[in-house]
Amino acid sequence: MAKTRSTYRCGECGAEGPQWTGRCSACGAWNTIVEERVAPPSASATTSRPTSVAMPIAEVEGAGWEPRPTGIGELDRVLGGGLVAGSVTLLGGEPGIGKSTLLLQALSSLAGGGARCLLACGEESAQQVRLRASRLGALEPRLFLVAETELPAILAHASTVVPDVLVVDSIQTVHDPELASAPGSVAQVRECAHRLVRAAKDSAMATVLVGHVTKDGNLAGPRVLEHVVDTVLSFEGERHHALRLLRAVKHRFGPTSELGLFEMTDAGLEGVPDPGRLFLSDRQASAAGSVVVPTLEGHRPLLVELQALVARSPLNMPRRSAQGLDAGRMAMVSAVLEERVGVTLVAADVYALAVGGVRVIEPGADLALALALTSSVTGTPLPADLVVCGELGLCGELRQVGQMGRRLAEAARLGFRRAVVPASAPDGPPGLEVLRASTLVEAIARAGLVLGAKPVGFPRAVPA
Ligand code: TYD
Ligand code: MG
Repeated sequence: MAKTRSTYRCGECGAEGPQWTGRCSACGAWNTIVEERVAPPSASATTSRPTSVAMPIAEVEGAGWEPRPTGIGELDRVLGGGLVAGSVTLLGGEPGIGKSTLLLQALSSLAGGGARCLLACGEESAQQVRLRASRLGALEPRLFLVAETELPAILAHASTVVPDVLVVDSIQTVHDPELASAPGSVAQVRECAHRLVRAAKDSAMATVLVGHVTKDGNLAGPRVLEHVVDTVLSFEGERHHALRLLRAVKHRFGPTSELGLFEMTDAGLEGVPDPGRLFLSDRQASAAGSVVVPTLEGHRPLLVELQALVARSPLNMPRRSAQGLDAGRMAMVSAVLEERVGVTLVAADVYALAVGGVRVIEPGADLALALALTSSVTGTPLPADLVVCGELGLCGELRQVGQMGRRLAEAARLGFRRAVVPASAPDGPPGLEVLRASTLVEAIARAGLVLGAKPVGFPRAVPA
């Protein structure tokens, strides 16, 4: 009889090796390798005949795979209409971001619309979930609840309830006592996910798995999960802000470019269908250092205020702080300002942020950041009706960014009248004057900032 053999697997990335090591050679994580026992394949597995029949693609039945709307508009937008029967979706996000709340609201809405729903919660007791459900008004008769962590029990409940939609919160708490490996190990999570995927396909129930995410944004432990499921959604946001962003990282049934926007309120998550003025409501347009940039999140233009504050630093190593912005791009923009424009920042503390808890990391925000810094250094506010968009090159030249027309149209819709853009940008919509510039120096002038003949900024003090 063939022997059971051991393999060694990394708990972080799922890489497999022949022996135990202290550090995973694939992802570099320490102390993550665990032993897994692998049963030999049965003799019949290799010789069995297929039970399925290959058929021409046009004859494969395609009905029944239309998405079922969840009734949560922003979620449906990201899913491309709703949940597809038999599909498996993984919802990832940091603890406390609102994954359980979002799914409870979605299930309640689905159940209210006639779907049978089953929520298997392993993280909270049934009482806790019920308490939250009554606060959210989610006490629907077709919404069933089990507090279970054992996979066979969850699957047994699923075959009695026969739900249209099953939610497992979270996949990391699910385990199968028949498997040799420890609960929470990669082998457990992966095997349980495989079985849930099989159950979803066999009984055509749409399944949503909740997955935890580590600090650096990866799904905790098993990246392997991402390959098994049809859709991976990522729920993001700053914990101290109410704004939450939902994106599809992988989607077998639709585009991955849509963005869903929610606000966390006392009554759960509320969709933000028109985010137009969301980030601009408290803006002090007359303050130096404030610039509005039309960014693009997926297909959605968002107008975001960037702020910069440049102040003389008492420190030998001045502070550089970039919140919601890419620190590397800020360093690049500062260097270009210094070398190509002559705005010196070496002895200054520089603070920059994207207002409202949103992350603006696209290169299209370079020019806006450069103008915000210049505006702060010179103490001159930019015109209140001005938006700024463009990528900055290392030679101080401005470069075109994608979908400029869409960005400018949104700016015009929200009442902006002028836009500083790269020279190659297309014309704007009626009512929006396009101010073209081919270099950063030109853009600074077109935005109405005057640098003058004297050196600008905060050079290092020369010792007396
Ligand atoms: P939760 O859905 O439990 O997050 P996750 O499942 O991702 O860990 O929600 C966490 C936070 O949301 C919690 O700290 C409180 C807050 N919250 C509200 O602000 N309003 C509400 O109506 C609810 C239900 C939660
Ligand atoms: Mg939760």
